[in-house]
Amino acid sequence: MRKEELVQLIGSLTTEEKVGQLIQLTGNFFDAEDTVMETGPLKKIGFNEETFDLYSTGSLLNVVEPKNIYEIQKKYLAKTKHNIPLLFMADVIYGYKTIFPIPIAQTCSWNFDLIEKAAKVMAKECYDSGIHVTFAPMVDIVRDIRWGRVLESPGEDPILAREYAKSMTKGIQGDESILPQDHLAACVKHFAAYGAPIAGKEYNGVELSEEALHNVYLPSYQAAIDAGSKLVMTAFNTLNGIPCTGNKWLNQEILREEFQFPGVLISDYAAIEELKVHGYTENDLESAKMAIENTVDIDMKTSVYANHLPALANENPEIMKLLDDSVLRVLELKNDLGLFEDPYRGLDPLDFSKGERLTTQHRQTSLQLAEESVVLLKNEQVLPLKKAEKVAVIGPYGEEKATIGFWAITGDTKDTVSLLEGLKQLADEGIVLPAFAKGCNILPASEVDQYDKYSQSIDIDTHSEESLLEEAIKVASNADTIVLALGESTYQSGEGGSRTTPCLPKNQVKLLKALKKLGKKIILIVYAGRPLLLDEIVWDVAAILYAWFPGTMSGQALANILYGKANPCAKLSMTFPRSVGQLPIYYNSGSTGRPVQASNPKHRFASRYLDEDNSPLYCFGYGQSYTEFAYGKVELDKESMDENGTITASVTVKNTGSYAGKEIVQLYLQDTAASVVRPVKELKDFQKVILDSGEEKTLQFKITEQQLRFYSPKEGWISESGAFNLFIGKDSEDNQQQGRFYLIKN
Ligand code: GLC
Repeated sequence: MRKEELVQLIGSLTTEEKVGQLIQLTGNFFDAEDTVMETGPLKKIGFNEETFDLYSTGSLLNVVEPKNIYEIQKKYLAKTKHNIPLLFMADVIYGYKTIFPIPIAQTCSWNFDLIEKAAKVMAKECYDSGIHVTFAPMVDIVRDIRWGRVLESPGEDPILAREYAKSMTKGIQGDESILPQDHLAACVKHFAAYGAPIAGKEYNGVELSEEALHNVYLPSYQAAIDAGSKLVMTAFNTLNGIPCTGNKWLNQEILREEFQFPGVLISDYAAIEELKVHGYTENDLESAKMAIENTVDIDMKTSVYANHLPALANENPEIMKLLDDSVLRVLELKNDLGLFEDPYRGLDPLDFSKGERLTTQHRQTSLQLAEESVVLLKNEQVLPLKKAEKVAVIGPYGEEKATIGFWAITGDTKDTVSLLEGLKQLADEGIVLPAFAKGCNILPASEVDQYDKYSQSIDIDTHSEESLLEEAIKVASNADTIVLALGESTYQSGEGGSRTTPCLPKNQVKLLKALKKLGKKIILIVYAGRPLLLDEIVWDVAAILYAWFPGTMSGQALANILYGKANPCAKLSMTFPRSVGQLPIYYNSGSTGRPVQASNPKHRFASRYLDEDNSPLYCFGYGQSYTEFAYGKVELDKESMDENGTITASVTVKNTGSYAGKEIVQLYLQDTAASVVRPVKELKDFQKVILDSGEEKTLQFKITEQQLRFYSPKEGWISESGAFNLFIGKDSEDNQQQGRFYLIKN
């Protein structure tokens, strides 16, 4: 439809029908068989049945099966008075049926073309199932491993988060404004800075300076919006004392004016109603007014808009205008999806199973991304395994198929390849098949009931803990090498998954310490939704593969890496602390006026702890390979540049090891003196290069004035004359190859 027709259509609606377009409910209101999961607070929705017409609802949340979508849409269109189709939105964050590694793992691949390809697969599977909008990408920057939603985050760095935002949005939506076949609408979230809750506690307040917001936390949302994201979702948290869903500075000045966002702003689950719980409004009437004045276009799963907005709009022409504007944005989204012409977009009512899901190609894409997301943290020459090695796989994750993470709500773990299944697939390649013993449960039985309604999903073995341990010791004793598959439970991360001490479950550490006494090589594989504290076990093992939650192809990816069919190349997108006391810890921090001096590291009056190192256990950008890479000297083509100039930095990288491999070469800059002090290092560029054994390549990085800019609260985005230190290396602590240049502005 043309815009004029949409405006005309709005003119034909009653005020209640207009408000209906701004309401989002779950499928159970329409007898859906598959309300996938309640993702927010479970509570009675207080709609006023006399005034609210269910068949004026604008959109549904988390109805995800094709048949249900078709039947609800058909029933709705038969009963509605205005013939505007329903929008179907869902949380498909990193895979629909083919599940990819969790986002924090994906960004460790630094392979954004592959991330975009995976997003395209996800979009295709959603399109073929009739879904119209996905609540992805989540691009909240995170610096604190206590927060459970690290799992969905792109990590701590603004550049990687921006690349992730762009790749995911393009993969989901395609490149056109009218959403083409096989694509759907993206919804970037959570606006804004939800990943910085005080003390890493879920839903807690966020206190950030304007400088930190603009330089670190806001760029990833803007990148998704610049890539055309059709929706933005508000965040639950307060930002500097004002809830994001009612925060005019955030929604008007930043989102609508500075970012020029024209699309639909949807609240997070019940966030409009929570404005009064925050203590920001007196009641729902005030919350309705506050939210619509913030141009929040959709009220997710509460009755606030339905019960209060019609009267507010009828009494106040300005509110009516805001309401019309919101309805137009929602109808334009439906129009961009072609729903007026085809409300059953992507569906085939004659065969709901039709379409691509879990195809060989889709699985292959997930396998490749998993292989490029697993980080080799430690390897004392024990990996890759030799085919003839007698291996014992010990640990609950050896056979576990729940390796797809908390938010893969449309995935099915029966489709997942477990580690043992992955290893068995290598049998015809001559490996000696491993023995297996579970050794322990993922969680101690005593802890299971902490996990609320998820506790019934947590398996507890019928064998006693003692007998599990005894069996593990026996099996391990007959092997040369132990592959120990441990990790946090799926239900220990994700939304509502904040932990004060995010480490391996105690019963698993007990198993590890018992196996250690056998004096055999232990290769530890860790499954987790975040960096865990590894300091108490890192010295007990000879190698660590950090698997995160690798998705549908978990076991095949890990088996290929264990036996060298895939050479690990991932590098951390988030810092691993030594202890909780260091949090928040991140590489791009300030120098302080008293940095620790290498010449006198114990000097009392320096920025340090008495009881812990300042350095992380593993730094941002760190990751090993089965081969080695040597870096030559950094060459700069000139010593200075003006604001229209560029500087080219060159460096030669050589594969000096015996395996072909991929190296992620990272370029960091330090603005040595600025009107707002800058971090000791900031990632500005990177290249992922493939090198055969013995091969070398010279890489070039072009530096522009734009990369030297930072946000100053007084002057906005500026660059300033002065000296810049340049580092090119394998991770954020690699200071080997340096250079220095000057920006000279007139
Ligand atoms: C949840 C999450 C959000 C999700 C929404 C809908 O509470 O915060 O990420 O998209 O509700 O399920």
